[in-house]
Amino acid sequence: MKFSLLTILIVTAQILYGQSPLLIPSTISGSTIELNLQNGTYEFYNGKVTTTMGANGDILGPTLLLNQGDFVNFTINNQLSETTTIHWHGLHVSAENDGGPHTTIAAGAAWNPSFTILDKAATYWYHPHLHEKTNEHVSKGIAGLIIITDDEEAALALPRTYGVDDFPMVMQTKDFDANYQIVAPSNADDVAMVNATIDPYLDAPAQVIRIRLLNGSSQRVFNVGLSNDQAFYQIASDGGLLATPNQTTRLLLSPGERAEILVNFTGEEGSTVYLKSYASELPNGIYGATNPGNNASMTLDGYNPNPLNGADFNLLQFNVVAQTASPITSIPTTLAVVTPIEESTSNKTRTLTFSPATMGMDQLNGDFLINDVSFDMDVINISVPFENVEIWELTNQSAIAHPFHIHDVQFYVLSRNGNTPPASEQGRKDVVFVKPQETVRFITVFETFTDSPVPYMYHCHLLTHEDRGMMGQFTVNTPLAVADNYLLHTANIYPNPTTGTINLNLEEQIDPNNIKIYDQTGKELKQFGLKFLNGQVQIYGLPKGLFVLKIQTKDVFISKKIIVE
Ligand code: C2O
Ligand code: CU
Ligand code: CU
Repeated sequence: MKFSLLTILIVTAQILYGQSPLLIPSTISGSTIELNLQNGTYEFYNGKVTTTMGANGDILGPTLLLNQGDFVNFTINNQLSETTTIHWHGLHVSAENDGGPHTTIAAGAAWNPSFTILDKAATYWYHPHLHEKTNEHVSKGIAGLIIITDDEEAALALPRTYGVDDFPMVMQTKDFDANYQIVAPSNADDVAMVNATIDPYLDAPAQVIRIRLLNGSSQRVFNVGLSNDQAFYQIASDGGLLATPNQTTRLLLSPGERAEILVNFTGEEGSTVYLKSYASELPNGIYGATNPGNNASMTLDGYNPNPLNGADFNLLQFNVVAQTASPITSIPTTLAVVTPIEESTSNKTRTLTFSPATMGMDQLNGDFLINDVSFDMDVINISVPFENVEIWELTNQSAIAHPFHIHDVQFYVLSRNGNTPPASEQGRKDVVFVKPQETVRFITVFETFTDSPVPYMYHCHLLTHEDRGMMGQFTVNTPLAVADNYLLHTANIYPNPTTGTINLNLEEQIDPNNIKIYDQTGKELKQFGLKFLNGQVQIYGLPKGLFVLKIQTKDVFISKKIIVE
């Protein structure tokens, strides 16, 4: 082996300047946008080839630059060798355009959603959402940012030149095996990266820069700060600008959450500052803390040893360089008009309780439930009356924190354990982090889109939890069509598949007029018989095929696919 001076210089340079320049994803804008989902290879490590998935490239996806009011026609070409979906996380779109687990794109097929951008200026993102595969498809690389602007944002003196003073930062951790291949799912995510760049550096001008942070990790929570402990200014939460900048030295971001921050590097030319995650400050009970559960003896398979857990680590190195031509050098004092929905206007409160499927010390290795049930593609858990203003009260009765996400809407956090939410959460949100034993309440309105055959999702954004059933689905329905207090009903429906007769065990009496069977095209079938016996319903005389059984009463809403063989 030959150790040249050059090697020593390179090694020294890597130590001094970080390993690689930060990758800045390309951008796409306009009214026609094409995304090609593809298999690829990428060198996370110099000279080591990792198999990846990406959109319009080998890793991640282009940043979409859109304006409120734009009408956009998308073509999503699935050039992967497997089925996936693409979901617009945070965008207020119809359920058919939302790209959830029902809207699959087969290998070789294309999907053409089109919609008007209704959202406020903020940073959103897109990612696959195939049930049980979300973690794998996101971890292998498909994730991209969506930057939306509106008139209110455009009128502010903010940095907005992409890649110059306005930087996208997709923060992730991954687990690589001995052959440098991505392992997902995994609790051994010990490699931190920003924009798929391990140990990145960024030449940042000595002025106010804007950073669009996304926690795109499968599970890890980041507690973001700067190594010199200088204050930075959060200007946006998930779905909109804040009313005024939130000056802070730490910002907690759980998976799925975004924040836009301003860092003022004016006068710091020549200095080196690190963007870090101060995970040593995370309390136990958070993925990323020393103990993932709130009890120190609760373990999570593969979680330890991991140098990132409970330790402070670098995400990125800033080399502060000369100013650009017309720099922004001060932080605005006011931002946007933020009008939270009045609590008094709510006409429904729903409670959602998170619990482990198996109790005890090993509960972190099991599944997690919402209101005692696991996800079922065929069950609509909640039917929301159109234009309802609702309070959702989330209570975490498990030992680990869960970032709760809901599709279709942005919400306002009303309280955490009865207290006013912190400044970082006083804006529009679509993910809220709920720590063990906490109760978080938010308020939202279900407007614009109604009566779609496709449901929207709500779920934990820890992708392992989501894939393993910590998810539910809701539809928004015009008020006259449904009563407003449908509850989830876990019915025992068997056998399925059947040869023509199915049994339903329900907890209450059902009027036969509330039991309907539809064929695959949505046509109601009349030709079946019903028998009631001791609270059990028998449906017989079903012809061969695939059917949807629906039971709707004031308290029950069941939609279940039945196969008759
Ligand atoms: Cu970020 Cu249901 O997704
Ligand atoms: Cu989403
Ligand atoms: Cu969870």
